[in-house]
Amino acid sequence: MKPFYISTAIHYVNDVPHLGHMYEEVVADVVARFRRFLGDDVFFLTGTDEHGIKMERAAAAKGVEPLQLADRIVGIHEALWSDLSISYDDFIRTTQERHRTAVEALFSRIRALNPDDIYLGEHRAWYCANEETFVPDAQVKDGKCENGHRVEIAAEENYLFRLSKYQQRLLDHYEQNPDFVRPKTRANEVIAFVRSGLRDLSISRTAVKWGIPFPGDPRHVVYVWFDALTNYLSGLGFGKDEERFRKYWPADVHLVGKDIVRFHAVYWPAFLMAAGIELPKSIVGHGWWLSGEQKMSKSEGNVVRPDELIERFGADASRYLLMREIVFGQDATFSVEKFEKTYTADLANDLGNTTSRILKMVETKCGGKTPPASSGAGSIREIVERTIPTYLNSMDDFDFTRALDAIWSILRELNGLVARTEPWTKDASDAGTLLWPCLEGLRCAWVMLIPFVPVAASEALSRMGIRATEVTIEDLRWGVLPITDSILAGSPLFPRLSATAARGAA
Ligand code: MSP
Repeated sequence: MKPFYISTAIHYVNDVPHLGHMYEEVVADVVARFRRFLGDDVFFLTGTDEHGIKMERAAAAKGVEPLQLADRIVGIHEALWSDLSISYDDFIRTTQERHRTAVEALFSRIRALNPDDIYLGEHRAWYCANEETFVPDAQVKDGKCENGHRVEIAAEENYLFRLSKYQQRLLDHYEQNPDFVRPKTRANEVIAFVRSGLRDLSISRTAVKWGIPFPGDPRHVVYVWFDALTNYLSGLGFGKDEERFRKYWPADVHLVGKDIVRFHAVYWPAFLMAAGIELPKSIVGHGWWLSGEQKMSKSEGNVVRPDELIERFGADASRYLLMREIVFGQDATFSVEKFEKTYTADLANDLGNTTSRILKMVETKCGGKTPPASSGAGSIREIVERTIPTYLNSMDDFDFTRALDAIWSILRELNGLVARTEPWTKDASDAGTLLWPCLEGLRCAWVMLIPFVPVAASEALSRMGIRATEVTIEDLRWGVLPITDSILAGSPLFPRLSATAARGAA
């Protein structure tokens, strides 16, 4: 089996997760489930980023120890990801012992291979505590960084990483690996940033106490970004038990938001080059969920809470809506009215209703038995056969909009076919002839939906006598509908939204 390693960013735990974090988990889960479906040996890593000044301050404000705050927030993350069926294989916390070991091992590798790459120097610059990063002078306006957060002058004796040395090697890498940063717009930003010149990077702090002691000089702690990026190695057992590391490294995809592509596409590969470790295959940057015109963020206080969304729509539907209502790579403004409309049109009507209607007719007209295979009427087979390659290619390209459009073309055709041929008016045998292709088209649509709505897909397929856990890529073709005598319509998979709260719903 081909190994496939995908990671999300590790989330800060100074506050509870919001819709943006939830989106990232859902995208990674859709990709991980799709890869498993293809037969890959998937390793999906997520986790939390628990050190740094932001965390120190948040805990102090609440009058608790940073680790206490982290433990509480991690519990919320884990419960939420479980509600959403996020199928990660491991959850890494940067306060874990295995993570410290990996950070220390990475330092040792750099020092052994490139002893001059880490050196003691004076560092004085604007610092944005909110983003835990120094800000170039040119980006500071009225005491604020580009994203509007207050900056402060930080001057420290710091250990620096000789990032400047890697400028050309990074540019060469981008040129030789055009898919290293995706989508293309993100790659262009990274290349422009590196071309404009790289300064050495401060990788230690003395003003911050809450962090990993700097190897060889415990007066300092390791800079939180150096610490955080190493999670992609520590989650695999780097520096400790390296069997998993050897199996899955290099990562296939580091999935991150566009705001932190630079850390992943510039700093991270430079650290790895210095340590003589292979680089990840790709950094994939997703867009932002906005509130109005602004990025949804805890520090702006304009967030949508994941539990509110799940309560309104259900977990699977929330997953679908997040994937449907944004074009991957671009930003989208969150609107509950828009989500309600799409829920009603796509899930309650196109998917839910079509499924119940077809299954109900098989139940009543064919006694719940799979009718004999037939070519039936209409162009459904042709549409399914056209959709499968489009779906597979689009999923591979992170083009989820195109993948979902393709699936919905099947559902719409099924709907039209049923309306045109009216199987309910026919006798059992003619109805069966018409219904077999409908069932087969429906099965193919639901198989393709497994990564998006795993719980609903498992339920829908089981009503057709199919176990979703046993479905493989081999089943994604026309003509392999299994024979069963227990087809059931069941209750609605996506019930209509309650009218009171359904403002603007169609
Ligand atoms: N801890 C760092 C990441 C370190 S990775 C080695 C961090 N944490 S974060 O909690 O601020 O963000 C975690 C992820 O959520 C990032 O990829 C970020 O881009 C994403 N999102 C945060 N707000 C977002 C939106 N409003 N919309 C979509 N995703 C956004 O950065």
